[in-house]
Amino acid sequence: MTDLLITSSPTAIPVHLCNTGDWDSVKARLPRALQAFAEASGFSGQNGRHLVMPDRSGNIAAVLLGVEASDARHRDPFGPGRLSGVLPAGDYAFKGKLADPAAVALAWLLNPYRFTRYREQPLPKARLVCPRGVDHAEVVRMADAVAASRDLVNTPANDLGPDGIEAAIRALAADHGAHVEVTLGDDLLTRGFPMIHAVGRASVRAPRLIDLTWGKPDHPRVTLVGKGVAFDTGGLNIKPDSAMLLMKKDMGGAAAAIAAARMVMGAKLPVRLRLLVPAVENAIAGNAFRPGDVLASRKGLSVEIGNTDAEGRLILADALALADEDEPAFIADFATLTGAARVALGPDLPPFYTHDDRLAADLARLAPKVNDPVWRLPLWGPYDNLLESRIASLNHISSGAFAGSITAALFLNRFVSRAASYVHFDIFAWNPTAKPGRPDGGEVQAARLIYACLKERYPAP
Ligand code: BES
Ligand code: MN
Ligand code: ZN
Repeated sequence: MTDLLITSSPTAIPVHLCNTGDWDSVKARLPRALQAFAEASGFSGQNGRHLVMPDRSGNIAAVLLGVEASDARHRDPFGPGRLSGVLPAGDYAFKGKLADPAAVALAWLLNPYRFTRYREQPLPKARLVCPRGVDHAEVVRMADAVAASRDLVNTPANDLGPDGIEAAIRALAADHGAHVEVTLGDDLLTRGFPMIHAVGRASVRAPRLIDLTWGKPDHPRVTLVGKGVAFDTGGLNIKPDSAMLLMKKDMGGAAAAIAAARMVMGAKLPVRLRLLVPAVENAIAGNAFRPGDVLASRKGLSVEIGNTDAEGRLILADALALADEDEPAFIADFATLTGAARVALGPDLPPFYTHDDRLAADLARLAPKVNDPVWRLPLWGPYDNLLESRIASLNHISSGAFAGSITAALFLNRFVSRAASYVHFDIFAWNPTAKPGRPDGGEVQAARLIYACLKERYPAP
């Protein structure tokens, strides 16, 4: 797919950008016959429309693409990228000023992504000449990472269990000379990960903690953590059918962390990278953990279970406690943690939580720049008491129905105390409907953003 972005072409077909405001002046510069062709086709620069125009011998002479006017209320930086996978085979080059050339180049590669494991799909053949000033290698690196992780999210749980997540991380490590250690099954108990074990023990596919390290030991320590629930039935608090249907994507946090790790290693950022993925299946069996159980945790806190469907925060808590132990400069976790985050912000805008105001400002500034949108929600201290338990150090959920994404973030924060900076992303990992650069299905959220942030803080030499 990444061969669709080329550095140059002697035969590139021009793609002219226009909008309803400047259509008349664009039209005036076209040959008479093409003016007539555009008119006959009813094209007048409408946003989202394109027109492939022939020359006299019937070859493609040029393409017109209607985009948002410069005063539009919302401009999608990926917008023009929707032409890839739509245009016929050939080489193309944008003419006129792109609002965000890097975003368009990336969208060109991400737009035609399809999940082809079980069914062939026609290969897109329209290649784009990389716009001037855009770093070709960087765009390809990001597109590769996103596509590989979309595949992980889209793969159903019968073909991607905790073992499959481990295999994916081992393959990633092999590509980059990283080191992987896995704590498997009952070893989770002896090595101090009781909550990962409790959540995952009811599955025939053993729970595990996957621990990848890469980079020079004396570089700043950066740790990425991803929720790897291969499938979330809800456990004994079983989900209703409609809520369970999409739960193959409950490892979307792991997929995002994997994508970020792939970019960091690919760009050889001068960091000591650690990727931690607790990988489990939240299944139902006689040995499943139960509502009302009190679990020990790596951190030493006792945790009362209010609902076995709030499994993600439990496995993350043990992984975060481990991450925190070597006092890294930075911890980021990614997790499809709550339905409440979707109620608050919808599928395309994941909330993030951090006590670090400088980091929050950096993320807010970089998110629109890399078109990986997020929104800060508060770690609202007064809600902390919603996690009180009568018999344990804390409950893992609030008994009420309010502020579900915030209380989940507050719970996670109880397990991080030594890292210099910590951010949690409550992501959806799914496109319910297709948009330019974002075909429907599995999606990677917040990974390019964290990569951009790390690249800014730790630029490659
Ligand atoms: N994986 C789900 C959250 C989820 C559901 C994310 C749908 C995206 C889409 C998580 O494990 C879960 O079930 N959370 C519960 C928590 C509740 C029981 C406190 C939720 O959000 O309903
Ligand atoms: Mn759940
Ligand atoms: Zn879940």
